[in-house]
Amino acid sequence: MAARDALAADGGAPVRTRPYPPALPPIEPEDAEAVAAVVRSGQLWRHGGRQVRELEAAFALAHGLAPAHAVASTSGTAALHLAVGAIDPEPGDEIIAPPITDFGTIIPILAQNAIPVFADVRPDTWCIDPEDVARRISPRTRAIVAVHLFGRPCELGPLRQIASAHGLALVEDCAQAILAEHEGRPVGTWGDFGCFSLQQSKHITAGEGGLTLVRDGAHAARARLFADKGWPREGAVRTHVQFGMNYRMTEMQGAVARAQLPRLPALLARRRALAARLDAALAQAMGIVVPPLPAGSQSSYWQYAWSVPARAAEFAAAARAEGVPVASGYVTPLYLVPALRERRAYGGSAFPWGSPYARPQPPFEPGLCPAAETMADRLCYVTLHQGWSDEDADDLGRAVRKVARAFVRRGWWGEPRGPSA
Ligand SMILES: Cc1ncc(COP(=O)(O)O)c(C=O)c1O
Repeated sequence: MAARDALAADGGAPVRTRPYPPALPPIEPEDAEAVAAVVRSGQLWRHGGRQVRELEAAFALAHGLAPAHAVASTSGTAALHLAVGAIDPEPGDEIIAPPITDFGTIIPILAQNAIPVFADVRPDTWCIDPEDVARRISPRTRAIVAVHLFGRPCELGPLRQIASAHGLALVEDCAQAILAEHEGRPVGTWGDFGCFSLQQSKHITAGEGGLTLVRDGAHAARARLFADKGWPREGAVRTHVQFGMNYRMTEMQGAVARAQLPRLPALLARRRALAARLDAALAQAMGIVVPPLPAGSQSSYWQYAWSVPARAAEFAAAARAEGVPVASGYVTPLYLVPALRERRAYGGSAFPWGSPYARPQPPFEPGLCPAAETMADRLCYVTLHQGWSDEDADDLGRAVRKVARAFVRRGWWGEPRGPSA
């Protein structure tokens, strides 16, 4: 074995010894001044100022929509809750979602006493499989949630068709996919709702925060009321015309997110350039598969992910020993986490599953979504950041190729196809 090929985990020289740059949000000094100006003004809530309103208008415009079609809230989970609240399901109605996602995709379904029904992901894209969605539709289904995982757009054409054919709402969970594109059109504008997160790890951030794009005017009005205790602000009399939460974004959040918004196109262009570099480097690695994006699709690269034939956790550990920040697995399929597996949403009642309003559901146990379960042993990813240099990407590519060669040599991946560089 050539010395250059001895894995760092086995005492060889690592590919890289310098640390990677920290994944800082795109915040500039003037953003701090915008927040300070809000604090100095004494108007810290959205109905007293104009920052949140301006953020909504700018975000809607960036998606080709009128201002009233974007509603700000306190988190990505809240942004999804606005959508479910506007859909207004009956208790026991079903909402189809993938199991590979943040729990924030599922919480709003349960909070509205609806039943999350899991459809499997496609093994090649990790996004919800439209064919499995179609199989899981029942007379109680009200909506489909499509999660654009890691920033990769789902198959929105078929999902839109299925939703329309069955009279269902299509909710896009764009928490990881701001300004990703499907067939040249931004995600969040294909469905009835597009839900975004401004949590710390996202492309732009207010620490926490959410934005919901709403296609239909009546739905948008309901979503806005849902974020504000069902309280219509235009009337002289204080009243509450529907159920809702207090999900009002603060002016400080609005100001800091609004300031970052214009930086998104450049930030995404840089992430895409780095990803193209990695695509080329990883195409030469035996056993590594980076799923291609369909023509007209653009990922926003919240994470850059690939699959290995097996032993993803060991692969990631060996890559980290080479000095590159590779992680594996992402999340356990959510139906296997204790809160769902044990049906613990409301005390010991097993509500909403066990309620007379719901249809009986299959147990949450291994085997429900086989492709999602296989992902854990195959998926590796890195948090791609616009602050990376070309050299940072090249070092990652070299480390991945080196570890892949070692795993092939050891026979850990059977007989993988592909080049051996
Ligand atoms: C796919 C997805 N959906 C929903 C959420 C929930 O967003 P938040 O953490 O802002 O509530 C996240 C957050 O990480 C997410 O990645």
